[in-house]
Amino acid sequence: MDVEIIELGPDRLPEVVALCRRSLDLPEDAAEAPAVVATLAVRAAADRPVLLLGAVRDGTLVGVLVGSRSVTDPRRGHVDLVAVAPTHRRQGIGAALLADAETRLAALGASEVLLAGNPPHYAWPGIDVRYTPAVCAALRLGYRQDRTAWNMTAALTEGSTALRPTEATERRLAERGVTVRRAVPTDLPALEAFARATFGGVWDGELAGSVGRPDAGTHLAERDGEILGFAAYGSARPSWFGPMGTAPAAEGSGIGGVLLRRCLRDQAAAGLTEAQIGWVGPVPFYSNAVGARIERVFFLYRKAVNGA
Ligand SMILES: CC(C)(COP(=O)(O)OP(=O)(O)OC[C@H]1O[C@@H](n2cnc3c(N)ncnc32)[C@H](O)[C@@H]1OP(=O)(O)O)[C@@H](O)C(=O)NCCC(=O)NCCS
Repeated sequence: MDVEIIELGPDRLPEVVALCRRSLDLPEDAAEAPAVVATLAVRAAADRPVLLLGAVRDGTLVGVLVGSRSVTDPRRGHVDLVAVAPTHRRQGIGAALLADAETRLAALGASEVLLAGNPPHYAWPGIDVRYTPAVCAALRLGYRQDRTAWNMTAALTEGSTALRPTEATERRLAERGVTVRRAVPTDLPALEAFARATFGGVWDGELAGSVGRPDAGTHLAERDGEILGFAAYGSARPSWFGPMGTAPAAEGSGIGGVLLRRCLRDQAAAGLTEAQIGWVGPVPFYSNAVGARIERVFFLYRKAVNGA
């Protein structure tokens, strides 16, 4: 095959973004290609080894793969993104990129490769079922589906449930000493400590990626300086909401719904007409609170590789 698989340096990121814009067949993914590539290839490199591979034919980039090693389990490698230019499909390029990534991830210590999001920096939980060629390729290349994940879509158009005002509930909470406000960068250590103590240590990266950052944000609830809950959006992609969490003792008081709707209101104000609640989670809560519906469904795959 006259295609070479090479490691790409940071200088080729603009080409990677351009290729993803052309090659991610779902418009919502193509539109957010710059954020997707920045999340997976740049920000993720702060806390895990990242592979950025390109398939080059006659000097032109025709395929790209981003892979990484799991933050929590070094025996797991992840393929975070793979895309081949529409004009170059069914020529073995996707398979060559995956084979190369498997070898390199195994050299990093992986004994298993997952076609699945590698939190906290992920762009999809797995393969969206509508990328049916990718589903076919995964099966052909020996991957086994082991889990299903889904997002929920919340409409952000005028009159939608998600944009119901929050003031009345906020007043009721204030009478009980609970304040709700936008988080600022100085809140980050307390937010991370709260998320770690209450839900385990998986959300630091997403909090750091959302508090006070462009196209992103976090809202929190507190009483006497103690955090009772938070909700964040935009860390991986501007249109994606999450994570969020309310302290178990404060559940049922309306805090979660208010925090969620504050975030979605910001996203609507930024011009979005829909938000994706990523890798859900409590379906009835989101359905009730903001009229969200399950829409994107993802299959997650895994395959054993010859680890070190
Ligand atoms: C998924 C994708 C990367 C595959 O790239 P590719 O270079 O066309 O894949 P290959 O030519 O290496 O195909 C390998 C095998 O996968 C299977 N396959 C690939 N495309 C298929 C299709 N459209 N229908 C059925 N099987 C398919 C085949 O078995 C193929 O082997 P074969 O051609 O010898 O039968 C490409 O379709 C793509 O970029 N899709 C859009 C982005 C995407 O879905 N990314 C994954 C989600 S992030």
